[in-house]
Amino acid sequence: MLVNVVKTVGLVSLLCTACLTQASEPSAAAKEQAARDVSLKQKFPVQYKSWLETSEQTEREDMLASYPAAIILWAGSSFAKEYNSPRGHHFAVADVTHTLRTGVPPKAGDKGLSASCWTCKTPDAPRLMNELGIEGFSAKNFTEVGKEVNSVVYCTDCHVDGKAELALPRPHAQDAMAKVHLPFDKQNNNMKGAQVCGQCHVTYYFQPERSNKVNIPWIFGNNVDDIEKYYDTRRFYEWIHPISQTPILKARHPEFEHWSRSKHAEAGVTCITCHMPETTDEQGNSFTSHKVSKALNHFDEVCQSCHKSEKKIISALDKNKATIDAKARKVEGLLVKAHYEAAAAWDAGATWPVMNDAIMAIRHSQWRWDFAMASHGLYAHNPEEGNALLDMALRQVKYARTSLDEILKKFDVKSVNYPDISSKASAHAAVGIELEKLTEAKKKFIKEDVDKNWSEVTKYGYE
Ligand code: HEC
Ligand code: HEC
Ligand code: HEC
Ligand code: HEC
Repeated sequence: MLVNVVKTVGLVSLLCTACLTQASEPSAAAKEQAARDVSLKQKFPVQYKSWLETSEQTEREDMLASYPAAIILWAGSSFAKEYNSPRGHHFAVADVTHTLRTGVPPKAGDKGLSASCWTCKTPDAPRLMNELGIEGFSAKNFTEVGKEVNSVVYCTDCHVDGKAELALPRPHAQDAMAKVHLPFDKQNNNMKGAQVCGQCHVTYYFQPERSNKVNIPWIFGNNVDDIEKYYDTRRFYEWIHPISQTPILKARHPEFEHWSRSKHAEAGVTCITCHMPETTDEQGNSFTSHKVSKALNHFDEVCQSCHKSEKKIISALDKNKATIDAKARKVEGLLVKAHYEAAAAWDAGATWPVMNDAIMAIRHSQWRWDFAMASHGLYAHNPEEGNALLDMALRQVKYARTSLDEILKKFDVKSVNYPDISSKASAHAAVGIELEKLTEAKKKFIKEDVDKNWSEVTKYGYE
C-alpha cells in the first residue's frame, strides 16, 4: 500500500525512497559488526551462548520509588528524574536510550547531553572514538550518535577482536589504571579480568574543559578522600543545588574502587571469580561463564571453596546490608533537612562568608553518601568501607546542621518548611519535576526517531 502511495506522488516518492533506504540499508560499521558476530559465535560457541543469557536478567528496582529522599539530594540534575538498579548487560543500550535521564534531542542551538553517555554501554563508543578522536566523540550529542550504536556490551569490550586475550579498549580506563600505578599491560590475567570490568564499573565525570570526555578522577588515588581532594582543588562541581546552592559532587558506581581495597582483592578473588564463574559445557570441558550475573547464584561453585557455611555467609551479608542501608537512610534524611535549612538561611539574608562552612559540609557529606549509594553491592564488596563512608557522612551533615542552626537563630528564623518525601510522587512535586510531561516527550522521541532510525539493540526489551 505504501508503495502505491509513493508511486503516485512524485515529490513524496523521492523523499520516502531516501528515508526507506536509510532505514533498511545498514552502515559499513553495522555490516562489519554483523559479520564479526557470525564468526565469533562459530569460533566460541559456549562463551557466546552464555553471553546471550544476560538477556534473562530482566529485573531491576526503581531506586527513586524505594528511596525518594534521593530525588531531593539530586534535584537540579537528571538523576532526580529516573534512576534504576542495574540489570543484565543485554539491556545496557536500550535502558540508556529509554531512560528519562538522557531526555530528548536538544532544540536547535542548545548543547544537549554528551555522547559520552554511550561510553560504557557499547563497543561502538571506542570505535567512534577511534574514528572521530576522543573529544570529537564526546563533543557530539547523545541522540546524534544513537544511530551509530549496533551492539550491547560485547566480546570486543573485553577482548582483542577475535581472540580470548583480554583488552582494555577505553582510553579513559587505560589512563586511570596508569594513574594508580596498575597499567593494564603489566598486570597478570587475574587483575586484567578485574580491570576489564573496571572500564565501566568505576566512578567518572565528564570533563567540561575537554569537550565532556569521560575522565576518571584518580590523580591523587582512588579512595573517597583522594577523589574529593581532586575535585576540591579544581573547584569542580557537577551542578549547583537549586535549593541550598551547594556545588554538588556526584559519584557513579565505584565498584572497582571498593573491591580493590577489600579482603577479597587481597586474597586474589576478583569480579570474575564471583560474577563469571568457571563452569562446564555438555562435553564436560570447563569454560568461563559469560552470563555475568548475581554472585550468590553461584555459592556452591564459587564461594564454597573458601566458605563452608552458606547460612553463615548469607547471614553476614544480610547483616552488612541492613546496617549500611539504615545508615544511608539516616544520612539522606538529614541531608534533605540541611538543604532546606540552607535555603531558609539564604532567604533570610545570609551571605557566602557566613554560609561557606555549612555548604561545604553538605557537599562533603553528600559526596560520601553518594560514593556509598552509587556502589552496587557495596555491602558484599567492602562493608567496612561502606560503614566508614556513612559514619563520616553522618558527622559532616550533623556539623552542617549545627552550623545552619546558629545562622538561622541569628536571623531569627523560627521554622523551616521541609518537603514531603514519603513517596516518589511527593518528592518529585517538591522539586518541580513533572514526570508525565517528561515521559510524554520521551515517548514521542522514541516513536518518531528511535523506532524508525536506530538499530534493534536500542529497543531491546521495550518492543
Ligand atoms: C565483560 C567482559 C567480557 C565480555 C563482554 C566477554 N568476555 Fe570473554 N572473557 C572475559 C574474561 C574476564 C575471561 C576470563 C579470562 C581469564 O581468566 O583468563 C574471558 C574468557 C574468554 C575466553 C577464554 C576461554 C574461557 O572460557 O575462559 C573466550 C574464548 C572468550 N572469553 C570469548 C568471548 C566471546 C566470544 C565473547 C562475546 C560473545 C566474550 N568473550 C565476551 C571477559 C569478557
Ligand atoms: C562496557 C561497559 C561494561 C563492562 C565492560 C562491564 N559492565 Fe557490567 N554493566 C554495565 C552496565 C551499563 C550495566 C547495567 C545495564 C542495565 O541496567 O541496563 C551493567 C550491569 C552489571 C551487573 C548487574 C547484573 C544484574 O543482572 O543485576 C553486574 C553484576 C555486572 N554488570 C558485572 C560486571 C562484571 C563482573 C564485569 C566484568 C567481567 C562487567 N560487568 C563489565 C556495563 C559494563
Ligand atoms: C567475593 C565475591 C565478589 C567479588 C570479588 C565481586 N563481587 Fe560484585 N557482588 C557480589 C555479591 C555477593 C553481590 C550482591 C548481589 C549478588 O550478586 O548476589 C554483588 C553485587 C554486584 C553488583 C550489583 C548487582 C545488582 O544487580 O545489584 C555489581 C554491578 C557488581 N557486584 C559488580 C562487581 C564488580 C565490577 C566487581 C569487581 C570490581 C565485583 N562485583 C567483585 C560478590 C562479588
Ligand atoms: C578464594 C577464596 C574466597 C572465595 C572464592 C570467596 N571468598 Fe569470601 N572471603 C575470603 C577471605 C580471605 C575473606 C576474609 C576473611 C577474614 O578476613 O576473616 C572473605 C570474607 C568474606 C565475607 C565476610 C565474612 C564475615 O564473616 O564477615 C563475606 C560475606 C564473603 N567473604 C562472601 C563471599 C561470597 C558471597 C563469595 C562467593 C560469591 C565469596 N566470599 C568467595 C575468601 C574467599
